[in-house]
Amino acid sequence: MDLITFDSGEIVRKYQEQDRPDLYHVCLATGDSGADAVHLYDQKDMLGEIYVGPYLTFQPELSFTLIQDGVAGYALAALDTSSFETTLSKEWWPLILEKYSSRSPENFNDREKNLYSYIQNPPLRPKKFVNQYPSHLHIDLLEKAQGRGIGKAMMLLVLETLREQGSKGVHLGMGAKNSRAFTFYTKLGFTLLDKNDQEWTMGLAL
Ligand SMILES: CC(C)(COP(=O)(O)OP(=O)(O)OC[C@H]1O[C@@H](n2cnc3c(N)ncnc32)[C@H](O)[C@@H]1OP(=O)(O)O)[C@@H](O)C(=O)NCCC(=O)NCCS
Repeated sequence: MDLITFDSGEIVRKYQEQDRPDLYHVCLATGDSGADAVHLYDQKDMLGEIYVGPYLTFQPELSFTLIQDGVAGYALAALDTSSFETTLSKEWWPLILEKYSSRSPENFNDREKNLYSYIQNPPLRPKKFVNQYPSHLHIDLLEKAQGRGIGKAMMLLVLETLREQGSKGVHLGMGAKNSRAFTFYTKLGFTLLDKNDQEWTMGLAL
Protein backbone atom coordinates (compact mmCIF):
# COMPACT_ATOMS: atom_id res chain seq x y z
CA MET A 1 0.00 0.00 0.00
CA ASP A 2 1.36 3.43 -0.93
CA LEU A 3 1.47 5.76 2.05
CA ILE A 4 2.37 8.92 0.12
CA THR A 5 2.05 9.61 -3.60
CA PHE A 6 3.69 12.72 -5.07
CA ASP A 7 2.38 14.51 -8.18
CA SER A 8 5.74 13.88 -9.85
CA GLY A 9 5.23 10.11 -9.50
CA GLU A 10 7.35 9.16 -6.49
CA ILE A 11 5.77 7.00 -3.83
CA VAL A 12 6.56 6.16 -0.23
CA ARG A 13 5.58 2.74 1.03
CA LYS A 14 6.46 0.49 3.89
CA TYR A 15 9.82 -1.23 3.61
CA GLN A 16 9.86 -4.62 1.88
CA GLU A 17 12.70 -7.10 2.38
CA GLN A 18 13.67 -6.94 -1.31
CA ASP A 19 14.59 -3.24 -0.79
CA ARG A 20 17.46 -4.05 1.56
CA PRO A 21 20.45 -4.01 -0.86
CA ASP A 22 19.23 -0.80 -2.51
CA LEU A 23 18.68 0.87 0.86
CA TYR A 24 22.22 -0.03 1.89
CA HIS A 25 23.32 1.62 -1.34
CA VAL A 26 21.36 4.80 -0.49
CA CYS A 27 23.20 4.88 2.84
CA LEU A 28 26.56 4.68 1.06
CA ALA A 29 25.55 7.17 -1.64
CA THR A 30 24.71 9.76 1.06
CA GLY A 31 27.31 8.61 3.60
CA ASP A 32 29.78 11.49 3.50
CA SER A 33 27.82 14.15 5.41
CA GLY A 34 25.03 13.80 2.87
CA ALA A 35 27.35 13.45 -0.15
CA ASP A 36 28.32 10.33 -2.09
CA ALA A 37 30.71 8.05 -0.18
CA VAL A 38 30.84 5.16 -2.66
CA HIS A 39 34.49 5.89 -3.55
CA LEU A 40 35.52 6.04 0.12
CA TYR A 41 34.79 2.42 1.04
CA ASP A 42 35.80 -0.96 -0.37
CA GLN A 43 33.46 -2.69 2.11
CA LYS A 44 30.36 -1.43 0.33
CA ASP A 45 27.75 -2.78 2.78
CA MET A 46 29.46 -1.71 5.96
CA LEU A 47 27.74 1.68 6.41
CA GLY A 48 24.36 0.17 5.58
CA GLU A 49 24.84 -2.67 8.02
CA ILE A 50 25.48 -0.17 10.79
CA TYR A 51 22.99 2.60 10.04
CA VAL A 52 20.20 0.87 8.07
CA GLY A 53 20.16 -2.90 8.62
CA PRO A 54 19.21 -2.80 12.30
CA TYR A 55 16.01 -0.85 11.57
CA LEU A 56 14.96 -3.00 8.60
CA THR A 57 15.50 -6.12 10.70
CA PHE A 58 14.08 -5.09 14.06
CA GLN A 59 11.74 -2.15 13.31
CA PRO A 60 10.34 -2.92 9.84
CA GLU A 61 7.03 -1.27 10.78
CA LEU A 62 8.94 2.01 11.23
CA SER A 63 10.98 1.64 8.02
CA PHE A 64 9.77 3.50 4.92
CA THR A 65 11.08 3.27 1.36
CA LEU A 66 10.97 6.02 -1.27
CA ILE A 67 10.51 4.81 -4.85
CA GLN A 68 11.58 7.15 -7.67
CA ASP A 69 12.52 5.05 -10.70
CA GLY A 70 13.62 2.42 -8.19
CA VAL A 71 14.57 2.74 -4.54
CA ALA A 72 15.74 6.29 -3.86
CA GLY A 73 15.57 6.85 -0.11
CA TYR A 74 14.46 5.81 3.32
CA ALA A 75 13.18 7.06 6.63
CA LEU A 76 13.87 4.74 9.56
CA ALA A 77 13.06 4.92 13.24
CA ALA A 78 13.34 3.00 16.48
CA LEU A 79 10.46 3.50 18.92
CA ASP A 80 12.34 2.73 22.12
CA THR A 81 16.05 3.38 21.74
CA SER A 82 17.08 1.57 24.93
CA SER A 83 15.35 -1.72 24.16
CA PHE A 84 16.47 -1.43 20.51
CA GLU A 85 20.09 -1.15 21.66
CA THR A 86 19.67 -4.18 23.92
CA THR A 87 18.26 -6.23 21.04
CA LEU A 88 21.09 -5.19 18.71
CA SER A 89 23.75 -6.09 21.26
CA LYS A 90 22.38 -9.64 21.38
CA GLU A 91 21.08 -10.25 17.88
CA TRP A 92 22.80 -7.92 15.41
CA TRP A 93 26.29 -6.71 16.33
CA PRO A 94 27.69 -10.22 16.99
CA LEU A 95 26.72 -11.32 13.46
CA ILE A 96 28.15 -8.20 11.83
CA LEU A 97 31.33 -8.44 13.88
CA GLU A 98 31.81 -12.05 12.85
CA LYS A 99 31.38 -11.11 9.20
CA TYR A 100 33.98 -8.33 9.23
CA SER A 101 36.41 -10.12 11.58
CA SER A 102 36.77 -12.74 8.89
CA ARG A 103 37.74 -10.09 6.28
CA SER A 104 41.23 -9.13 7.51
CA PRO A 105 40.29 -5.86 9.25
CA GLU A 106 43.99 -4.92 9.40
CA ASN A 107 43.69 -4.23 5.65
CA PHE A 108 40.68 -1.93 5.98
CA ASN A 109 41.18 1.72 5.11
CA ASP A 110 40.98 4.28 7.92
CA ARG A 111 37.27 4.95 7.52
CA GLU A 112 36.53 1.24 7.52
CA LYS A 113 38.71 0.78 10.58
CA ASN A 114 36.61 3.42 12.36
CA LEU A 115 33.43 1.58 11.41
CA TYR A 116 34.98 -1.70 12.52
CA SER A 117 35.70 -0.15 15.94
CA TYR A 118 32.08 0.98 16.04
CA ILE A 119 30.90 -2.58 15.39
CA GLN A 120 33.26 -3.93 18.05
CA ASN A 121 32.01 -1.45 20.61
CA PRO A 122 28.72 0.11 19.48
CA PRO A 123 28.17 3.36 21.36
CA LEU A 124 24.97 3.68 23.40
CA ARG A 125 22.97 6.86 23.07
CA PRO A 126 23.30 9.05 26.17
CA LYS A 127 20.57 8.49 28.75
CA LYS A 128 19.98 12.23 29.08
CA PHE A 129 18.56 12.28 25.52
CA VAL A 130 16.90 8.88 25.58
CA ASN A 131 14.92 9.65 28.75
CA GLN A 132 13.32 12.74 27.24
CA TYR A 133 13.32 11.67 23.58
CA PRO A 134 13.07 7.83 23.66
CA SER A 135 12.76 7.31 19.89
CA HIS A 136 15.35 8.10 17.26
CA LEU A 137 15.36 8.24 13.44
CA HIS A 138 17.41 8.46 10.24
CA ILE A 139 16.49 9.83 6.81
CA ASP A 140 18.50 9.79 3.58
CA LEU A 141 17.43 10.47 0.00
CA LEU A 142 19.50 10.08 -3.16
CA GLU A 143 20.51 13.40 -4.67
CA LYS A 144 17.97 13.12 -7.50
CA ALA A 145 15.14 13.03 -4.94
CA GLN A 146 16.31 15.92 -2.77
CA GLY A 147 14.91 19.44 -2.57
CA ARG A 148 11.39 18.59 -3.73
CA GLY A 149 9.54 18.36 -0.45
CA ILE A 150 9.88 14.58 -0.25
CA GLY A 151 12.11 14.55 2.83
CA LYS A 152 9.70 16.76 4.73
CA ALA A 153 6.71 14.56 3.81
CA MET A 154 8.59 11.42 4.88
CA MET A 155 9.58 13.01 8.18
CA LEU A 156 5.97 13.99 8.88
CA LEU A 157 4.94 10.37 8.17
CA VAL A 158 7.55 8.97 10.59
CA LEU A 159 6.78 11.52 13.29
CA GLU A 160 3.05 10.80 13.04
CA THR A 161 3.68 7.03 13.17
CA LEU A 162 5.88 7.42 16.27
CA ARG A 163 3.21 9.61 17.89
CA GLU A 164 0.51 6.99 17.13
CA GLN A 165 2.71 4.34 18.73
CA GLY A 166 2.92 6.38 21.92
CA SER A 167 6.36 7.99 21.66
CA LYS A 168 6.81 11.15 23.71
CA GLY A 169 9.86 12.38 21.82
CA VAL A 170 12.44 11.65 19.14
CA HIS A 171 16.10 12.53 18.73
CA LEU A 172 18.64 12.14 15.93
CA GLY A 173 22.34 12.48 15.33
CA MET A 174 23.69 14.39 12.34
CA GLY A 175 27.20 14.96 11.01
CA ALA A 176 28.60 18.24 12.32
CA LYS A 177 29.39 19.31 8.75
CA ASN A 178 25.89 18.70 7.40
CA SER A 179 24.55 22.26 7.64
CA ARG A 180 21.81 21.49 5.12
CA ALA A 181 20.38 18.77 7.37
CA PHE A 182 20.50 21.16 10.33
CA THR A 183 18.30 23.67 8.45
CA PHE A 184 15.97 20.88 7.37
CA TYR A 185 15.46 19.51 10.90
CA THR A 186 15.15 22.99 12.42
CA LYS A 187 12.31 23.78 10.02
CA LEU A 188 10.54 20.65 11.28
CA GLY A 189 10.76 21.92 14.87
CA PHE A 190 13.83 20.03 16.10
CA THR A 191 16.15 21.87 18.48
CA LEU A 192 19.86 21.35 19.10
CA LEU A 193 20.44 19.27 22.26
CA ASP A 194 24.18 18.81 22.12
CA LYS A 195 27.15 19.03 19.77
CA ASN A 196 30.74 17.94 19.48
CA ASP A 197 33.27 18.10 16.62
CA GLN A 198 31.81 15.02 14.93
CA GLU A 199 28.11 14.88 15.67
CA TRP A 200 25.24 17.14 16.58
CA THR A 201 22.19 15.79 18.41
CA MET A 202 18.74 17.28 17.85
CA GLY A 203 15.43 16.48 19.53
CA LEU A 204 11.69 17.02 19.17
CA ALA A 205 8.91 16.42 21.70
CA LEU A 206 5.96 14.56 20.17
C1 LIG B 1 18.37 16.25 4.34
C2 LIG B 1 17.24 15.66 3.46
C3 LIG B 1 16.62 14.47 4.16
C4 LIG B 1 16.18 16.75 3.26
O1 LIG B 1 15.15 16.22 2.43
P1 LIG B 1 14.67 17.05 1.14
O2 LIG B 1 13.61 16.31 0.47
O3 LIG B 1 15.89 17.38 0.34
O4 LIG B 1 14.11 18.38 1.83
P2 LIG B 1 12.70 19.08 1.47
O5 LIG B 1 12.70 19.39 0.01
O6 LIG B 1 11.59 18.24 2.00
O7 LIG B 1 12.82 20.41 2.30
C5 LIG B 1 12.12 20.63 3.52
C6 LIG B 1 12.50 21.97 4.06
O8 LIG B 1 13.92 22.00 4.34
C7 LIG B 1 14.53 23.04 3.59
N1 LIG B 1 15.77 22.57 3.02
C8 LIG B 1 16.00 21.40 2.43
N2 LIG B 1 17.23 21.38 1.92
C9 LIG B 1 17.76 22.60 2.18
C10 LIG B 1 19.01 23.24 1.88
N3 LIG B 1 19.94 22.62 1.16
N4 LIG B 1 19.23 24.48 2.32
C11 LIG B 1 18.29 25.13 3.01
N5 LIG B 1 17.07 24.61 3.30
C12 LIG B 1 16.83 23.36 2.88
C13 LIG B 1 13.59 23.32 2.44
O9 LIG B 1 13.74 24.66 1.99
C14 LIG B 1 12.25 23.07 3.02
O10 LIG B 1 11.80 24.21 3.73
P3 LIG B 1 10.24 24.67 3.64
O11 LIG B 1 9.47 23.56 4.33
O12 LIG B 1 10.22 25.95 4.37
O13 LIG B 1 9.93 24.76 2.19
C15 LIG B 1 17.78 15.23 2.06
O14 LIG B 1 18.23 16.37 1.37
C16 LIG B 1 18.89 14.21 2.13
O15 LIG B 1 18.63 13.03 2.25
N6 LIG B 1 20.14 14.66 2.02
C17 LIG B 1 21.28 13.74 1.96
C18 LIG B 1 21.44 12.88 3.17
C19 LIG B 1 21.38 13.65 4.46
O16 LIG B 1 22.03 14.66 4.64
N7 LIG B 1 20.57 13.10 5.39
C20 LIG B 1 20.48 13.63 6.72
C21 LIG B 1 21.52 13.00 7.55
S1 LIG B 1 21.44 13.57 9.24
